[in-house]
Amino acid sequence: MEKMPYRPESDTRVLPVSSGEFISTDWQQRLPVLNGKQVALRELRASDAPSLFALLTTAEVARFISPPPTTVEGFEQFISWTHRQRTAGTYVCYAVTLPGFDTAIGIFQVRQHEAHFATAEWGFALGSPFWGTGVFPESAKLVIEFAFETLGVHRLEARAAVLNGRGNGALLKMGAVQECVLRRSFERDGQALDQVLYAILEDDWRAMHAPAPVRLTIPTRVH
Ligand SMILES: CC(C)(COP(=O)(O)OP(=O)(O)OC[C@H]1O[C@@H](n2cnc3c(N)ncnc32)[C@H](O)[C@@H]1OP(=O)(O)O)[C@@H](O)C(=O)NCCC(=O)NCCS
Repeated sequence: MEKMPYRPESDTRVLPVSSGEFISTDWQQRLPVLNGKQVALRELRASDAPSLFALLTTAEVARFISPPPTTVEGFEQFISWTHRQRTAGTYVCYAVTLPGFDTAIGIFQVRQHEAHFATAEWGFALGSPFWGTGVFPESAKLVIEFAFETLGVHRLEARAAVLNGRGNGALLKMGAVQECVLRRSFERDGQALDQVLYAILEDDWRAMHAPAPVRLTIPTRVH
């Protein structure tokens, strides 16, 4: 998502428990690790603050996303906020790491737009040394599958500033469909930017990733 839902000024310790029933699930206790071939996605830890500060506050990474925290302590507060939101069942944030290295090199966030995550929005940022390396598509696939399989998402939305070439390219290659342009929907550095609204529908994703049907060839009898 272009807009990180985290806002330091509104970071209170009150958990936003909805008025309806509150069902606690496993992922609300702790996020399962998502393992790929070249990535391992795991829960954020306070000790990730220095690497995330170093990698996600550079001008090229932060250009089209909501301003990230400006200090290591700010990232620590953000990380602890992500844990509280996860416990409340409204949001999850994964740290991207490379197998064998525990350093967080980026994040993937998913937040619910409707109760029980029926509609949700995702967003992501990676340190620029890892752009174009295959880390994004592999991590994205793991997060999309987690959203559909575990969170119960049916429609996964994303927003990308029209000017954000890599962000748009990244979404398109994951099969996200452009639905409309949200005019001047994102304020960044005093500029009102247009954003493209994308969505991946659960049914479309499953159809795209369904195993190819097995072709049975029936041997013809030769008399
Ligand atoms: C968004 C982000 C996580 C994607 O990771 P990445 O490693 O750069 O993504 P990839 O290289 O796998 O995919 C980007 C695609 O966009 C393409 N692309 C690059 N510049 C482009 C441009 N100006 N216009 C269109 N497509 C472009 C790339 O060629 C690539 O496609 P390909 O693999 O088919 O060649 C990363 O760029 C990032 O962290 N950006 C800063 C944070 C951000 O903007 N996040 C919000 C995104 S909505």
